[in-house]
Amino acid sequence: MKIGIIGAGQIGGTLTRRFRALGHEVFVANSRGPATLADLAKETGAKPVTAREAARAGEVVVVTIPQGKIPNLPKDLFAGVPESVVVIDTGNYYPRQRDGKIAEIEAGMIESRWVARQLGRPVVKAFNNIYAKHLLENGKPAGTPGRIALPVAGDDPKAKAVVMKLIDELGFDAVDTGTLDQSWRQQPGTPVYTKDYDADGVKRALGQASKERTAEWRATEKSPGSFAQPA
Ligand SMILES: NC(=O)c1ccc[n+]([C@@H]2O[C@H](COP(=O)([O-])OP(=O)(O)OC[C@H]3O[C@@H](n4cnc5c(N)ncnc54)[C@H](OP(=O)(O)O)[C@@H]3O)[C@@H](O)[C@H]2O)c1
Repeated sequence: MKIGIIGAGQIGGTLTRRFRALGHEVFVANSRGPATLADLAKETGAKPVTAREAARAGEVVVVTIPQGKIPNLPKDLFAGVPESVVVIDTGNYYPRQRDGKIAEIEAGMIESRWVARQLGRPVVKAFNNIYAKHLLENGKPAGTPGRIALPVAGDDPKAKAVVMKLIDELGFDAVDTGTLDQSWRQQPGTPVYTKDYDADGVKRALGQASKERTAEWRATEKSPGSFAQPA
């Protein structure tokens, strides 16, 4: 499969490595330009491209940049890209550490709805609740007891099925969270976030989630601080 990846950091770099290892064709972009991705390209065989090219290269396109930087992407990023192309959002809103205040999310908008609105495209939310290192190292064959499961939310069942199949290839079970309106159940601070549960555990945790955004996950007047010193 042809896969575009916008963002080549912890998650983008991990997905580039893992998808390449599985034999997928990967087109990867960052903010500084393809020349700065020479090492990753050499290591993995992925093709370094611009973000606009990555959006046009894939049957699946993963957007995996810090939430606060989403508005910096080209406004026409997906202009002319066929609707059949599946766009994955891996994002999380870290207002106190990294992203600063995003007023719509603070007012209650679901994080991935905000991303979809910024991109002008429907998205499937996936990979947001697992640490990059675990995504890189902890995949297991299907049927392995305790295999880590990842929640997947989105409005288009066909798009979700494509993502769930990729997750299985990567070595994880996939659990359908529901529509994007249900994706708050896998946002930061929820019971499923970073816990590496198996499928039963993920289903249970999704059911136990509360929609309330706690103070820890809200911006302060000083946002953003840093991961070492949250605002
Ligand atoms: N780290 C994790 O374990 C983890 C786990 C699950 C979900 N997430 C979420 O996934 C998202 C990505 O996180 P990350 O940890 O992978 O971030 P990261 O390591 O900081 O990497 C961010 C990447 O985004 C690129 N980027 C930034 N602005 C861009 C732009 N305008 N156009 C193209 N590329 C751009 C950066 O490129 P340059 O370096 O060239 O600026 C960099 O390659 C975040 O929302 C995060 O919360 C992270």
